[in-house]
Amino acid sequence: MSPLSQNKFLAFFLLCCALTCTTLLFSFTFSDPPFHFLKYASRISGSFFSKDICACDTCMADVGGDAWLADRFNQSILPLMTRDNSALSDDTYRWWQWLQREGNPANYTRVVEELFRLIPDEGGFMDAGPQRCRTCSVVGNSGNLKGSSYGKLIDTSDLVIRMNKAPTKGFEKDVGARTTHHVMYPESAIDLSNTTSLVLVPFKTLDLQWMISALTTGTIRGTYMPVKAWIKANKDKVVVINPRFIKYVYESWLEGHGRYPSTGFLTLMFALHICDEVNVFGFGADQHGNWHHYWEHNHLAGAFRHTGVHDGDHEYNITVTLADKHKVQLFGGR
Ligand code: C5P
Repeated sequence: MSPLSQNKFLAFFLLCCALTCTTLLFSFTFSDPPFHFLKYASRISGSFFSKDICACDTCMADVGGDAWLADRFNQSILPLMTRDNSALSDDTYRWWQWLQREGNPANYTRVVEELFRLIPDEGGFMDAGPQRCRTCSVVGNSGNLKGSSYGKLIDTSDLVIRMNKAPTKGFEKDVGARTTHHVMYPESAIDLSNTTSLVLVPFKTLDLQWMISALTTGTIRGTYMPVKAWIKANKDKVVVINPRFIKYVYESWLEGHGRYPSTGFLTLMFALHICDEVNVFGFGADQHGNWHHYWEHNHLAGAFRHTGVHDGDHEYNITVTLADKHKVQLFGGR
């Protein structure tokens, strides 16, 4: 480069710097509050990048530069079991069998094979992309839903995910009427409508056997307690959470708190992995500090918090942190 063009380049560079500084100074001085300019810029760039990931305003998969989130959220772990991803490492299998200390389990591989002869082997949900904006309502069973009038809001999401013994009949105003997915395990099973997808959380091999039995012969009537021999559910809509996903949630998100994650926390994590926007209802105590279910009259039942198996306080703190980081919207109770 000749000395003349060097000088021209330098002059141009200095002019650009001067213009940038003037613009910044102007926005700092005259905007109210002074940081609007920067906030606006980051919002534009944030939603610009989010739009590459999904079609909602904010996308679950977009962890931005958040180290806390990036340390925990491993989007490569698929929540649902398929034939292909069903094999467990020795370590995962041992951990999983230990959860409910099943003595003499049946052959896991054979049971999984039999299960997938009955239910679809699809995995599903992994269609994230710039065209998709999947909104989800995760509905926990907290008594804080009572009198909340959240029903209509809950029902507006694309997916409405409920769990365990949660009823809707008679509680529609507060909890909604739609259920696209119902998460359960044998001891918490209830009958479902033909359009609802049953999401089984297996805590032992017997739970997988129960699923087969409850949809066919009705021979399994008890685990560590009596369970429903038959279940009304659409077998073409049954999906199963992968034990590997349960272990990942326990280790990465709960950092070993409690013995294993609660259904509510697993459901929340399931939603984080399959939805673009997550709205959370029915988690935590009511305004008096009670931990009962919304359908129970006894406020002192303490249904969830004091099971000894789950660390309810820790799980709730993580949920609140996700809400503080605007990754989920947490609808507190009344
Ligand atoms: O009691 P149950 O396990 O059926 O409740 C489902 C989930 O709802 C729990 O795992 C928990 O995450 C949430 N829950 C809660 N506060 C309550 C009751 C339930 O956060 N009072």
